[in-house]
Amino acid sequence: MSNKSSAPARGLFIAFEGGDGAGKSTQVAMAQQWLEARGSQVVTTREPGGTQISEALRSLVLEHGHGEIDSRTEALIYSAARAAHVQQLIAPALNAGSHVICDRFVDSSLAYQGMGRALGFDAVAQINDFATDGLKPDVTIILDISAADGRARRVAAGGGVEAADRLEAEPDDFHERIRNAFLELAAGDPERYLVVDATLSVAEIHAAITTYLAGLL
Ligand SMILES: Nc1ncnc2c1ncn2[C@@H]1O[C@H](COP(=O)(O)OP(=O)(O)OP(=O)(O)O)[C@@H](O)[C@H]1O
Ligand SMILES: [Mg+2]
Repeated sequence: MSNKSSAPARGLFIAFEGGDGAGKSTQVAMAQQWLEARGSQVVTTREPGGTQISEALRSLVLEHGHGEIDSRTEALIYSAARAAHVQQLIAPALNAGSHVICDRFVDSSLAYQGMGRALGFDAVAQINDFATDGLKPDVTIILDISAADGRARRVAAGGGVEAADRLEAEPDDFHERIRNAFLELAAGDPERYLVVDATLSVAEIHAAITTYLAGLL
């Protein structure tokens, strides 16, 4: 029998991680254009968000004004948003053969809630394994930036203290813990991570990323 109806090859799942202001959104857009120029279908999305329910949960957890949000609740809201995102958008797109680029994924929860909020990697990994049904990025690109450099960038971009969301508003030592958490995750699984110095120029970072992706495609 012929195999005309065989499913398309599964796309590559690429996550971008890094502190606030590291340049994720900048590089996500450039990576998308680069992949599309090579003739690939690409779905670009972000966390928390990406679906209607996930965007509603994003507002709950990032906006000020919902009263106290304790660390466990925060971790569960992020993972609930992620469950919907994987089920409704990411997994279907990968199965249809698109590459998926996601601006933040599980590692942000491990870093911000696991280390930043001190819930521990293990507890946060457990709820996220449930949320994602075990889906992991094929590659995670970490844009490495110090707390001070990240803050300087957010200020330069017009996002001062008043514009900061609940997590951005945390002090520098919180953001240093986040940075170290990302580096620790990368060191624990070097095959699946690319760490790039986020203080390089936009073009240099893009070149490092595309060289790496070209090797995977
Ligand atoms: N390599 C770079 N060098 C200097 N400035 C940069 C670089 N990359 C991005 N920027 C600038 O830094 C600011 C933050 O970039 P961007 O929004 O891409 O970061 P982000 O990681 O998505 O931030 P957030 O976590 O807040 O979403 C922007 O003003 C952007 O133009
Ligand atoms: Mg961004």
